[in-house]
Amino acid sequence: MYLSKEEERILDGEMGEWRRKAMQILVTLGDVFGAERLIPIRSAHISGVSYKTLGDEPIRFLEDLSELGARTAVDSTLNPCGFDLQRPDEMGTPDYVREPQMRIVRTYESMGIDPALTCTPYYIRKRILGEHLAWAESSAIVYSNSVLGCRTNREGAPSSLASALVGKTPLYGFHLDENRLPQVHVKVNVGQLERHQFGALGLLVGKLVADAVPLISGLENPSLDDLKAAGAGMAASGMVTMFHAEGVTPEYKMGLPWKEGRPTDLVEVDERSLKKQVDDLSSAEEPDLAFFGCPHCSVKEIQEVAKLVAGRRVAKGKKLWVCTSRAILDAPRVSTYVSEIEAAGGRVFADTCVVVTWLREMGVETVVTNSAKAATYIPSFCDTGVRLASTAEAVRSVTEAI
Ligand code: F3S
Repeated sequence: MYLSKEEERILDGEMGEWRRKAMQILVTLGDVFGAERLIPIRSAHISGVSYKTLGDEPIRFLEDLSELGARTAVDSTLNPCGFDLQRPDEMGTPDYVREPQMRIVRTYESMGIDPALTCTPYYIRKRILGEHLAWAESSAIVYSNSVLGCRTNREGAPSSLASALVGKTPLYGFHLDENRLPQVHVKVNVGQLERHQFGALGLLVGKLVADAVPLISGLENPSLDDLKAAGAGMAASGMVTMFHAEGVTPEYKMGLPWKEGRPTDLVEVDERSLKKQVDDLSSAEEPDLAFFGCPHCSVKEIQEVAKLVAGRRVAKGKKLWVCTSRAILDAPRVSTYVSEIEAAGGRVFADTCVVVTWLREMGVETVVTNSAKAATYIPSFCDTGVRLASTAEAVRSVTEAI
């Protein structure tokens, strides 16, 4: 890979050991994928934050990097951690996870990374069509490429951190026009879908296309939240990095997918296959926790839950949790919806999501959720039962009329 004089000096360690380490990661990645050179990025989003998924080993590595003086070169944000930093007691977070989790967050923060602790960094700062990013967190990657028209590869924790520190990423994959063209046409013959069905559709598409770029036709009036749910599903079951939706997503509208014509490879999704996908994730009965916010809720999604709890309250022995970011909590009108949900006995948490919390230790045995991604991960990550349901059904199953 071609390196500028300055990049070579960084790689030679002339500009600090921490920069050398970060540059080494990027150069290795670029060489593996045949990148021509490095390009500047506008933002990095870093995974590897939750103590549950990270463990103890990497904490020392991060602290060493921080002690060497590592500082970010671009706007950078963090993925969710294991509990709401302001309300760990209310979540029932075990004591033994608090100190190591705080060490991780504080260490990243010492490097200048915004402890946004969310998987929806696109709600924090407006992104611009065509800008280059280095984002980890699969759902955010799919959303930024597909719905926002930004450009990022599927980064992991080390490469997203390295990009944050250098301010660059290797030029390959989804940074290039030719890799963003659709390869498989997915025809959806189902009609109007609810949010949980969009997520299930995403899971199906991910299984059908693996790591190809799908062009999806037949979606009826999908909202941004629906596309977010579908993209999260695709990335959870497959290795999808971006999709096009006919008449909806920006690069489809700009005509990019049509440069090479519509893909001839066609797969179809019908009502039966979608129902089976939902049913496969809906076996558990008697949920004790209803969870909304995978990916983290938008203002509209919090409002939807607030409307559904009106005239109801969370039943004895049950919980209702909504997860979002602090940036969304600070948005106008959100405090009203939060008050309505919490007055009904629910809780609106920031900084975390149930997948990276310690559900069993918190006494939860079965979760009902409107998120197909969460329903896919919860049984293995949290060792609890799960049920995928519509938002309304999930609210009803843990609440009772007043
Ligand atoms: Fe976000 Fe947690 Fe889902 S990090 S995408 S809410 S698994």
